[in-house]
Amino acid sequence: MQSFDPRHFALVPAAGSGARMGAALPKQYLPLLGRPLIHHALATLCAVPGIERVFVVLSVDDAEWARHDWRVLGPRLEPLFCGGPTRADSVLAGLRAISAEVRATDWVLVHDAARPCLARWHVEKLMRELAHDDVGGLLATPLADTLKRADEHARVAATVARDSLWRAQTPQMFRYVMLRRALESVHGVTDEASAIEAAGLRPRLIEGDAANIKVTWPFDMCLAEWILRHRGEGDGKEEKIP
Ligand code: C5P
Repeated sequence: MQSFDPRHFALVPAAGSGARMGAALPKQYLPLLGRPLIHHALATLCAVPGIERVFVVLSVDDAEWARHDWRVLGPRLEPLFCGGPTRADSVLAGLRAISAEVRATDWVLVHDAARPCLARWHVEKLMRELAHDDVGGLLATPLADTLKRADEHARVAATVARDSLWRAQTPQMFRYVMLRRALESVHGVTDEASAIEAAGLRPRLIEGDAANIKVTWPFDMCLAEWILRHRGEGDGKEEKIP
C-alpha cells in the first residue's frame, strides 16, 4: 500500500453576515489598512510555505469577493461559493467541496476570516507542535481575567475559577476525515474542536497570543488596525505587514 506524508490545507469560513458589527458590508470585507479585512489572514496563510492551498468558503450569493483583486495572494488561493447558515455548516460544506483534492489524513487548518491579525509564527507553531499528534488541536491563550457568571439581572451568580481555562482561537488543525466525520455527527458547535471533543477526543491547546483577536464589535477594528500597524515591534517574531 502506498503511504503519503500528510499535507496541510487552510479553510477559511467567510460566509457570515457579521450582524454584530452593525455595518452595511459583511465584516470580512470591511476596510482595514486599505484592504478588505479578510485579506490580512489570507495573506498570512498564503505566505506559509507548508500550506498547499487556501480555500475560502463564501456564501452562495456573495457578490463582494469579485469586486476585489486577490491575485497578489498568488495561485494557492481558491474561493468556494458554498457557505451555509451557520459557521459549522460553512466549514462542513467547504470540507465536502474539497474532497477530491484532499486525502483523509491530510491536515486542515480552519481559520476564521474575522481574525485578521493572524501571524505567520502562529500558524507555523501550530503546524510544528501538532505534526505528530494523534488528534490535532488549536491555538489558544490562558485566561487572565477572573470570570463571573451572571444571573438574569446582571448580578454575579457565581465566580468561575479561571485555573485551567483557555480562550479558544483559530486556526484549529485536524485531520480531514476526522474533522469531517465529527462535524457530520454534531450540531450547534461554534468551533471545530467542540466537534472533535463531542467525538470523544481531546484536542491539544497550543499557546498563541492575545494579538490574534476576533473582530466582532466595532471597537475591535481599531484594535486590529493598531496590532497590524505595530506588528514586529518588540516581539521579534514578525516583519511588519504593509
Ligand atoms: O460570526 P462569527 O464571528 O462567529 O463568525 C466566525 C467566522 O465564521 C467568520 O469568519 C464568519 O464569516 C464565518 N461564518 C461562516 N458562515 C456562517 C456564519 C459565520 O462562514 N453562516
